[in-house]
Amino acid sequence: MEQTHVPHVLFLPFPAQGHIKPMLNLAELLSHEGFQVTFVNSDHNHDRLLHNIDISSFYNRFPKFQFRSIPDGLTPDHPRFGLYVIDLLCSTRAVSKPAFRELLISLKEEKGPFQLPTCIIADGIMCFAIDVAEEFEIPTITFRTFSAHCLWTYFHLSKLIEEGEVPFPDENLEKPISCIPGLENVLRRRDLPGICRFEKADDPVLQFFVKETSAFTRASGLILNTFNEIEAPMITRLGSFFNKIYPIGPLHALKSRINDNSSSSTSSNGNLWKEDKKCLKWLDSQPSKSVLYVSFGSVIKLTREQILEFWHGLINCGNSFLWVLRSDLIVGDASFGHLLMKLERDTKERGLIVSWAPQEHVLLHPAIGGFFTHSGWNSTLESIVAGVPMICWPKTGDQQVNSRCVSDVWNIGFDMKDICDRSMVEKLVRELMDNRRDQFMASSDKLSRLACDSIKEGGSSCINLEKLIQDIKSMSS
Ligand code: UDX
Repeated sequence: MEQTHVPHVLFLPFPAQGHIKPMLNLAELLSHEGFQVTFVNSDHNHDRLLHNIDISSFYNRFPKFQFRSIPDGLTPDHPRFGLYVIDLLCSTRAVSKPAFRELLISLKEEKGPFQLPTCIIADGIMCFAIDVAEEFEIPTITFRTFSAHCLWTYFHLSKLIEEGEVPFPDENLEKPISCIPGLENVLRRRDLPGICRFEKADDPVLQFFVKETSAFTRASGLILNTFNEIEAPMITRLGSFFNKIYPIGPLHALKSRINDNSSSSTSSNGNLWKEDKKCLKWLDSQPSKSVLYVSFGSVIKLTREQILEFWHGLINCGNSFLWVLRSDLIVGDASFGHLLMKLERDTKERGLIVSWAPQEHVLLHPAIGGFFTHSGWNSTLESIVAGVPMICWPKTGDQQVNSRCVSDVWNIGFDMKDICDRSMVEKLVRELMDNRRDQFMASSDKLSRLACDSIKEGGSSCINLEKLIQDIKSMSS
């Protein structure tokens, strides 16, 4: 294998916003360290991402960085997520895998600076990258975008199925789950990951994750977007599967350190949607900690009924709110545009609706007093760093585990779980923003301090990032 002294790291995220963003943050940090970086998106996301970056100033800032892309095998209008995620999971194996091999062959033949990578950092649900990397004798480090609590739960999917805990009927949802060491007093049925709710144990999505979770232990290390101070016991337990674990989060906060002395426009924000920045101006006019920020991430879909329940709950609680309603939030409802216009009109007195917000900035704005979230791991970390307490309404994937931790492990908010009705929304918003505000603010402030300390010089995540950098350097020497 050809080796260069400057390490070249190739990143392969799963083609979804919540995966691209933290991996791109790490890619920029490594590029800032002088590494060469190749960042591989799906063709579908490549154009969307580059549309939101000032690419010439980005390459000026990171001259050793290149974006490349490979197909994900689906047509541009395919919905890709929700009920259709299995199509994406299968087509990445069938189409992206051979395309990835072709990409490595082309890098091998290249004469310029971007030759075969020293190391591949592949998403934990793109394990085909490990097979292909082995063909080229390139080491792979896996990057899992979940919390350590959730990842540890995923490692017990087979056991949960064997013991008849999964799949579970829609009853006795309070039943404690006792077969996951370390989480015996934390998880109930309703807190298990979304994939445990399929009707059959042989559901292809559930089986995909059972196999993928065991496959990615073949990687030479595990990168987690978390920090020791919040998840040490789970990180330690994951050590039974990986020799090397690098908890280097919260990555968005770590990356913001390299932006301090430069214009933020030269860095990416990793967004696939265009941010509507007018909401920051609107927030400037709101009193301190008075606004509830509402956003359900980039993937989940809602029904018209769910949107209306949330909207009535938000209107009835009396607080101001800023709500992100993505244009693709409802599938196959041609009248969503009309509903949106009506909600925007009827909300004017009390709040603002946008299609995509600059979320990290919004959460750090002094006017924000709470976050109504789907508990995606990036959103959870961004809220923790900003010290903003949460109301959680998890829907899928890792979100059910994260929301349980928010309420019962870290005590920084409420977990609404499966309930979606206006009176519950109203009650919890009042509790979060008024009645129990001081209690939640105390624990949120404490956790925010720990998160911020972890990324300072000498902090745990900073030290772990340095270890990762040294380990990759040693691969190229
Ligand atoms: C999903 C999973 O839910 C998540 O837990 C997993 O780790 C990755 O895949 P997603 O549902 O999109 O991700 O949620 P989340 O992890 O919260 O990521 C969303 C990202 O989009 C966040 O970084 C957030 O800041 C950003 N965002 C969201 C915006 O910038 N603006 C918005 O308006 C909404």
